[in-house]
Amino acid sequence: MGSATDPFIYANFLSSLDGRIALEDRAQNIPSYIPKHITTVSDFKLFMELHAQADCLITHGGYMRALSEKRLGNILQVKSNELIEWRRNHGLKPQPAVIIASANLDFPIHPSLHTHQQDCFIATGENADAERIRYWQDKNFKILRAGEEKMVQGAALIQQLKKLKYKSIYLIAGPRMLDTMIREKQLSRLYLTMTHQLIGGLDFRTLLTGPRLADEGNMKLKSLYYEQGSPTGSGQFFMNFDLH
Ligand SMILES: NC(=O)c1ccc[n+]([C@@H]2O[C@H](COP(=O)([O-])OP(=O)(O)OC[C@H]3O[C@@H](n4cnc5c(N)ncnc54)[C@H](OP(=O)(O)O)[C@@H]3O)[C@@H](O)[C@H]2O)c1
Repeated sequence: MGSATDPFIYANFLSSLDGRIALEDRAQNIPSYIPKHITTVSDFKLFMELHAQADCLITHGGYMRALSEKRLGNILQVKSNELIEWRRNHGLKPQPAVIIASANLDFPIHPSLHTHQQDCFIATGENADAERIRYWQDKNFKILRAGEEKMVQGAALIQQLKKLKYKSIYLIAGPRMLDTMIREKQLSRLYLTMTHQLIGGLDFRTLLTGPRLADEGNMKLKSLYYEQGSPTGSGQFFMNFDLH
């Protein structure tokens, strides 16, 4: 995969044929969620295998809030003994380091990070609230300043992670972090599973959030695998694309 001077940064998304990665219901105040019927065993297996190959995960404050409210399950650790063994055989620590990107810096830390002795950094912009920064520093968290305003920017963040010598960086965040990585040409590979289902929905999320892209969004198909009959009555493409 990557090297300390040229880390490999990858992301993995599941999308419906109509381009939805999550649904929500703004009128009823239902936060966004991935509909269960688009997920499959092989899609989750791919997620876990990519997760197991990372020496560093990038997540965000929103996920930490969702985790503490039990709205989402815990994906901060590699769970399977077989995959932990695989990591040991490939010179990786049992568990990856975790970067929490946040602009508002208001989230709880999940106790599993401490239990598994994972290195943990908080990434934020230069203009983030000074009091919140002090709050985290007083708790001995290391802060990565990576962005001119409050938001983290892709290139500045990857620069910091290079200094920390991470080589295989898995972005487990959503469309906003993907946007900043793609816009600043920091993503090496996109894994995209496309379920052959149209799911509709009035309110939905798609892969990216920001303004129109130029050639930063151009990708080269590296592989395409067609799985028939999964989900039942449908199928899915497993694609992966190389960037730049
Ligand atoms: N289908 C799929 O494959 C897939 C994959 C990922 C996510 N999703 C779904 O998509 C929906 C939205 O995803 P999400 O909540 O992960 O995404 P998001 O809207 O991209 O990110 C939410 C949080 O991330 C932090 N953040 C994002 N970009 C940042 C930046 N540049 N700098 C600093 N902080 C940044 C912010 O935290 P603070 O508020 O703490 O500042 C923000 O609240 C969810 O329902 C999720 O389950 C689907």
